[in-house]
Amino acid sequence: MQIIRTAHEMRAITRQIAAQTIGFVPTMGALHEGHLSLVRTAKEKCDTVIVSIFVNPTQFSPNEDFTRYPRTFDQDCELLKRANADFVFAPATEEMYPSGATTYVTVEGLSDRLDGKSRPGHFRGVTTIVSKLFHIVQPNIAFFGQKDAAQVAVIRKMVRDLNFPVEIVACPIVREKDGLAMSSRNVYLTPDERKSALALSRSLQKIETLFKNGNRNIEELISAGKQTLAEDSGVKLDYFSIVNPDTLEDIQNIDHPALVAVAAYVGKTRLIDNIVL
Ligand code: PAF
Repeated sequence: MQIIRTAHEMRAITRQIAAQTIGFVPTMGALHEGHLSLVRTAKEKCDTVIVSIFVNPTQFSPNEDFTRYPRTFDQDCELLKRANADFVFAPATEEMYPSGATTYVTVEGLSDRLDGKSRPGHFRGVTTIVSKLFHIVQPNIAFFGQKDAAQVAVIRKMVRDLNFPVEIVACPIVREKDGLAMSSRNVYLTPDERKSALALSRSLQKIETLFKNGNRNIEELISAGKQTLAEDSGVKLDYFSIVNPDTLEDIQNIDHPALVAVAAYVGKTRLIDNIVL
């Protein structure tokens, strides 16, 4: 596995291997089983797999956790070697954002829904960095985790709107044995918060059970989910929504696949989770 630091070198490599199918897994590092499952899926589908590790400053607002976001580069590289990734692209901030850069990519509308509503500017940062990475890495297929379902919707729309020749594959959420969705931010949780965090997956399971038993009333489903969250005093709701997975707009009837998405604070840590009905 080779570690590449500059866009110039990365582009030279992707030009050399342009005849192959290039799979790309963009990450911010602090890798866990969820990321590794993306790498493994990419390995199955592609000739060459490139993983980027870059903690992207523009997707964090000033009061968020950019400076303390876990950075575990050496450990990440070990895990990626074992998962047979071919290249790690780990650029410096100045490489991705040359001094004075003022150009951004915004998917209007979608970027203000769900996490975009709670974290203004977040998706502008994500779509800007992902489009820059796509230009440099030139992947045929890019792999994202379904845990960030809103991110997947925004990126799919960006790819369509800007004619990127990239297929987007969303891979299933990987969970701990007790149901907690894997996230790089789980390391922030104290033992008590770790227990409280289970309320998110529990609230989604509650909705799934009601749905399987025939309940199609959106208000009742959301209210059951919120009630399950409220049973744990360590959890503070951000949003609970049932939306169209492509447009992220609230839906009135569940006649197509519906995304049930929850975001909540456990202590200072903001966690998200979702299921598709
Ligand atoms: O999902 C993430 O880790 C990030 O949002 C991404 C896609 C790597 C862009 O920085």
